[in-house]
Amino acid sequence: EWTMENFIDIEVEKIRETVGGKQVLCAMSGGVDSSVTAVLLHRAIGDQLTCIFVDHGLLRKGEADMVMEQFGEGFNMNIIKIDAQERFLSKLAGVSDPEQKRKIIGNEFIYVFDDEASKLEGIDYLAQGTLYTDIIESGTETATTIKSHHNVGGLPEDMQFELIEPLNTLFKDEVRELGVELGIPEHLVWRQPFPGPGLGIRVLGEITPEKLEIVRESDWILRDEIRKAGLERDIWQYFTVLPNIRSVGVTGDYRTYDYTIGIRAVTSIDGMTSEFARIDWEVLEKISKRLVNESKHINRVVYDITSKPPATIEWE
Ligand code: XMP
Repeated sequence: EWTMENFIDIEVEKIRETVGGKQVLCAMSGGVDSSVTAVLLHRAIGDQLTCIFVDHGLLRKGEADMVMEQFGEGFNMNIIKIDAQERFLSKLAGVSDPEQKRKIIGNEFIYVFDDEASKLEGIDYLAQGTLYTDIIESGTETATTIKSHHNVGGLPEDMQFELIEPLNTLFKDEVRELGVELGIPEHLVWRQPFPGPGLGIRVLGEITPEKLEIVRESDWILRDEIRKAGLERDIWQYFTVLPNIRSVGVTGDYRTYDYTIGIRAVTSIDGMTSEFARIDWEVLEKISKRLVNESKHINRVVYDITSKPPATIEWE
């Protein structure tokens, strides 16, 4: 009989058998998938696991501190935090193609791990939170590639690690169930999915520090209002995107020519299809007002009302 408890027992056994006495590096991103992967690995092999948490400068506001507190201190896991903002941003400078950005971010991730691993003694394995859905959407020999999700598609050829992907038969809801079963707090397990390339694919086109700041602040405001409205669990994903649009507005006596921000909020079962979330006008109005008042350089807010398909959840 398949139960989550059995799954844990079986996976823990498998991991121990595979790893033996060797050391595993875990790619922690701050998201649900990599957090659950890390905790599962930690359960199996304890301090043979070292987590590397890369702050690539494309994280949401407050995320890095949260990860270090919850998992470093809370779970007592061995986590090394690397501040790699400069490295990522310089590689991304001048790049506007979405797949190119994903590739750069994905590769840079591995290079950063490689650099860090070479400082550590004898790491043989790299654990990643790849889901079943990631594999399908990244394309196999039989499926069409939709987007190259960084944790499947973008690995450089000279990679030195063997991969361990204990979640690669699971869907998102199963990963959450697994997380709860492993003792991760509910509010963490129920966090919305966040893509590996992070805010890097929510600044459309070329990424600049200024644009990143706009999308990060607006995302913070949106999350705050969704939480206040009690909608966190009802909406699969909610975030802001910064398209390359400037439009005319008016503030006081002044004409402005500034950025438009897009709100994306969708309901979904597994991320494969989605519908736009039917958020109350009042809530949207409040969000819109806060965005233009509190976020610099935004003078217009639009709400994305397309489903997937034909759109995707992310704008890139
Ligand atoms: P799309 O935009 O393809 O997104 O409808 C489906 C789900 O996948 C997430 N996503 C990504 N996750 N790396 C990731 O780890 C990526 O490059 C990536 N692109 C999209 C997206 O947030 C949604 O949950």
